[in-house]
Amino acid sequence: MSDTVAHLIRQAAKQLGLRGIETAALDARLLLQFATDMRREEIVAEPDLILTPDLAARFWSFVERRCALEPVSRILGSREFYGREFQVTPAVLDPRADTETLIAAALPLARGKCRILDLGTGSGAIIVTLLAERPEALGVASDVSEAALGVARVNAEAQGVSGRLTLTRADWFDGIEGQFDLIVSNPPYIASAEIAGLAVDVRDFDPLGALDGGADGLAAYRRIAAGASAHLAPTGQVLVELGAGQEAGVRPLFEADGFGFKGRAFDLGGHVRCLTFGLP
Ligand SMILES: C[S@@+](CC[C@H](N)C(=O)[O-])C[C@H]1O[C@@H](n2cnc3c(N)ncnc32)[C@H](O)[C@@H]1O
Repeated sequence: MSDTVAHLIRQAAKQLGLRGIETAALDARLLLQFATDMRREEIVAEPDLILTPDLAARFWSFVERRCALEPVSRILGSREFYGREFQVTPAVLDPRADTETLIAAALPLARGKCRILDLGTGSGAIIVTLLAERPEALGVASDVSEAALGVARVNAEAQGVSGRLTLTRADWFDGIEGQFDLIVSNPPYIASAEIAGLAVDVRDFDPLGALDGGADGLAAYRRIAAGASAHLAPTGQVLVELGAGQEAGVRPLFEADGFGFKGRAFDLGGHVRCLTFGLP
């Protein structure tokens, strides 16, 4: 009885719960599915199935990692974003549900043969989603991290959009050529001094280069605002994700560089999560 799937899930959920993990039961089940390659329905149908010692050991090694607060998506190596699975490696930010707010704001603006630039693409979650949702659009996505670009490439291929996407290594606009109808970015926006105090699952598992927004958290927005007008089509728009409470810091940066404010979008927590700007 000790190594039946139902018993293993219960035991693991108990351990994860003691570690303060609120989603303990769900996480235990997902880790068991991953360890055994079983589908959820198979677990439900065969709760008394006894795992081999190897599979049980594999499961417990994942539970141990989760007990050290490693996010489930990092253990699984994938994360669902806007209904699609994305590969996640240590080189990239684990795509967040909040970033789906930017997708929802960008999609109505991405019409026809829209040219889209995604700065700081990480896993490619934003550009790959936009290209998948808009089959006529063309994309360029950049990152300063070569390893991140490799992950974005894998995700673009998996979603069948790699033929419409150019990936390029660049330091914000340094290294970007051409004009775009939409420029989107979810840049690093945590103030450097706040990083040490972040939750362990963020601080210890997302790459520092994806989090650190400089002294006031706004360094990347300054670079993006300064470079965007040279790469934006006359009727184009720029959409940036931002951290909770950052609108008052981000908006004046774009306005000082000649952009007009076009709108804001709220995440499910009620925070302003995305700002849209255009040329006057
Ligand atoms: C917050 S993550 C966003 C990743 C992805 N777009 C997403 O939303 O999940 C920020 C990304 O910006 C990249 N980045 C940091 N500094 C950069 C720079 N100077 N130029 C271009 N990209 C940069 C990081 O490597 C990271 O992939």
